[in-house]
Amino acid sequence: MSDEFVLSDQIDRVLVCIPTYNERENLPRIVERVRTAVPSADILVLDDNSPDGTGQVADELVAADPQVHVLHRPGKQGLGNAYLAGFGWAMEQGYGAIVEMDADGSHQPEQLPSLLAALTDADLVIGARWVRGGTVVNWPLHRKALSVGANLYTRALLGMPVHDATAGYRVYRASALETIGLDHVASQGYCFQVDLTQRAVRLGLRVVEVPITFVEREIGDSKMSGDIMRESLHRITSWGLAHRADQVRRLGSREPTWHRL
Ligand code: GDD
Ligand code: MN
Repeated sequence: MSDEFVLSDQIDRVLVCIPTYNERENLPRIVERVRTAVPSADILVLDDNSPDGTGQVADELVAADPQVHVLHRPGKQGLGNAYLAGFGWAMEQGYGAIVEMDADGSHQPEQLPSLLAALTDADLVIGARWVRGGTVVNWPLHRKALSVGANLYTRALLGMPVHDATAGYRVYRASALETIGLDHVASQGYCFQVDLTQRAVRLGLRVVEVPITFVEREIGDSKMSGDIMRESLHRITSWGLAHRADQVRRLGSREPTWHRL
C-alpha cells in the first residue's frame, strides 16, 4: 500500500510519535522501518532523558534526516505525559494525522498503511490485538492475561464498544485531538490509552479497530510496573463509577449516556 491513499484523503501530513526510555538499540531500527513503510511520514521521538543515551542516538538520527525530530524531556514522566507533549508539538506544526507507536518493534511499521487507510472513515484508529485477525506474538501468559483482564475490566465498567482500549498503536486525526482537548488529561502512564479512548467515545468520535500483530520486543525491557498498573486500576475504576452514576442519574430522562451505544 502506498502513501497516495493517505494523500487522497487530505490527511497529507502524518507524524509518528515514538516515546523512548532506554531504547538505544531499538530506536534506529524502528525509525528506519517507519521511513521505509510510509516515506512521507515525519517522526517525532519523545525521549525522557534515557540513562542509556537514547537521546544522543535520536540527535544523530535528526542530524541525518530532516523528517526526524526529537523532544528532549528532563526525566521519566510517563508514557501519557510524553504523548501529551508530542501531540502538543504536532498540533503546533499543523499535522493532520498523529500516530502513536512504541519504539521496541511491537507495533510493526509495515502495518501502518492499513491503520492510515482506516482513518478515511474514522477519527481514531486503534491497532487492536483482541479482535478477529489480531494477535500477539511471544507474549508470556501473564502479559496476555494482564491485557485481556484489563480490557475486560474496562469494558465492564465503561461499557465501551472497543475490544482493545489499552492498545498503544493508534492514529488520531488532529481534529479529534482538538475535540478531545488535551488540557484536562491527567493520566501519566499506560492508562492514557484508555483515557483517550473513553473521551473519544463519549464525544461521539468515530473509533475504528484494525487488527494488528503485536510482536513482543527482542531487545531491552518493558517499562510496565506496579505503579503503572495501580494508576490504571485506580483511574479506570473511578471513570467507571462516574459513568455508571451518570447512567443512573439519567435513568428516566431522554438524555443519551454514551454516544453510539
Ligand atoms: N518517553 C517515555 N517516557 N517513554 C516511555 C515511558 C516514559 O515514561 N515509559 C515507556 N515508554 C516507551 C518505551 O520506551 C516504549 O517505546 C513504549 O513507551 C512502550 O513501552 P513498553 O514498556 O515497551 O510497553 P509494553 O510493551 O509493556 O506495553 C505495551 O502494551 C501496553 C498494554 O497493552 C504498549 O503498547 C502500551 O502502549 C500498552 O498500553
Ligand atoms: Mn513493549
